[in-house]
Amino acid sequence: MVPLKRRKVASSQTGNTGTDCGGRGGPNQFPQVVLFLLERKMGASRRAFLSQLGRGKGFQVEDSFSQSVSHVISENNRGDEVRAWLDSQVRGQTPVHLLDVSWYTESMRAGRPVEILDRHKLQQADEAEVVVFSVPGYACQRRTTLDNHNSVLTDALSLLAENAELSEDDGRGVAFRRAAAVLKALPGAVTDMTQLRGLPCLGGHSLRVIKEILENGASSEVESTKQSERYKALKVLTGIFGVGAKTADRWIKEGICDLHQLQDSGQTLNRTQRAGLDHYDDLSRPVTKAEADAIGEVVEGAVASVLPGARVTLIGGFRRGKLTGHDVDFLITHPEEGREVGLMPKVVSWLESRGFLLYQKTTRNSYLESKTGPGRPSSNMDRFERCLSIFKLTEEERGGNTETLTESCLQSLSTPDPNPQPHAQTHRGGPEAGQTNPAGRRPWRAVRVDLVVSPISQFAFALLGWTGSKLFERELRRWAAHEKTMSLSSHALYDNKQERYLRATSEEEIFAHLGLEYIHPSERNA
Ligand code: CTP
Ligand code: MN
Ligand code: MN
Repeated sequence: MVPLKRRKVASSQTGNTGTDCGGRGGPNQFPQVVLFLLERKMGASRRAFLSQLGRGKGFQVEDSFSQSVSHVISENNRGDEVRAWLDSQVRGQTPVHLLDVSWYTESMRAGRPVEILDRHKLQQADEAEVVVFSVPGYACQRRTTLDNHNSVLTDALSLLAENAELSEDDGRGVAFRRAAAVLKALPGAVTDMTQLRGLPCLGGHSLRVIKEILENGASSEVESTKQSERYKALKVLTGIFGVGAKTADRWIKEGICDLHQLQDSGQTLNRTQRAGLDHYDDLSRPVTKAEADAIGEVVEGAVASVLPGARVTLIGGFRRGKLTGHDVDFLITHPEEGREVGLMPKVVSWLESRGFLLYQKTTRNSYLESKTGPGRPSSNMDRFERCLSIFKLTEEERGGNTETLTESCLQSLSTPDPNPQPHAQTHRGGPEAGQTNPAGRRPWRAVRVDLVVSPISQFAFALLGWTGSKLFERELRRWAAHEKTMSLSSHALYDNKQERYLRATSEEEIFAHLGLEYIHPSERNA
């Protein structure tokens, strides 16, 4: 403890004349010790104060850095940061001692240079509390759970990815998606740019965005994108089921920027877009796991009654453990090869006859191994028989548990919608849009549902291909093509070197064929 009297004098000291009241001061008392205080993070005024304090106690404290300095003192800096600063001053030699300000203040108190202990020495980046992260280059080599420690950063990068995709710049979109995926896979929150050294997939643009957010809490590019009229219009218009970036762009060029303008424009909409517009509000609202399960029961009932023994598997985001989704995805197969043929139209008419479908579009299976050949690695479209639909989910199917449905409907009543549903809903047997029951809510909601049918021989590939995430799938195909000379699709895996198909009856076998560790669905949230 510094005696009060001495501390007082020291802090009022203004020159380096060495007239210290303790009597032990004086210029250059310790010729072996030439000090330099780093202004970085310490600040100019504190540095000036501490320098004068030292001089008053007989220490030689230099104003500028030179080769004669033996001890560099800094505050809140790491060894590697100080070294980087020194490198920028004089190249080559660095002084013997890089010390924390605690050594300096203790020496001031003692009136002499105290012994240098480990705790006085600056830590290097890798031994400091700053964790330097490391992840493999392909998302399919990583375990990415929903436990995202960097959601502020990944939300920002995902928004830029989305904006690039909406502007049909897929290359930039993928670059931002890959960068976001790397951050999602990290075991902790990024607090310092140095932690990102050596990480894959982080390009200059993504790094600039991350740096700005770490420093200022927000990215100017993300904020201005969010505010931009074009982004807002693209988002609203592509939010209509059946409307892609191209169509939205064409409409915007014709001055259509929201649903009302679209409505008033007299644009011809196809059947899908019409349905998408009719159910815009419902389809914009996330689907819950409870709703997905309720729809699963309906689909299982339909499948069981048209083809006993057929199996229904929940795929997509819900299989990865997500709690909400933009739709619900199911894969249907039968343990006997060939029995699945013709299944989809039967399931669809079963559902339709019972009023479960507000819209459906079925595509026939066009995959024939002998004709189609190995799946093109760059293609993410498969040729399964599939049905893109809009389900009508009533409270009855939700098993009397109306909580979620009620909540979401109440929410839509209490939050004014900037783009209210412009259309009357015109499906069979249901109330009109906006019509509510006496409790003040509509007793049903529309939900997007995807059904896919695969033969059992392709089931494992379909399961892997439809579980996602989209980036995980893309990375699996990239891995297969670039690292293994193989072509992976949702139908098959083809070895281009051996010129043969590699069969599999489980996802585990496919990962093994690809030379990858098995990644559980809940760890594919890249
Ligand atoms: N998929 C596909 N071909 C399509 C559409 C989708 O192979 N024409 C695959 C995607 O690659 C993805 C899976 O189906 O792996 C699910 O797609 P989607 O429902 O769009 O995404 P989810 O991951 O389920 O996310 P969300 O919860 O938003 O629905
Ligand atoms: Mn989905
Ligand atoms: Mn889907």
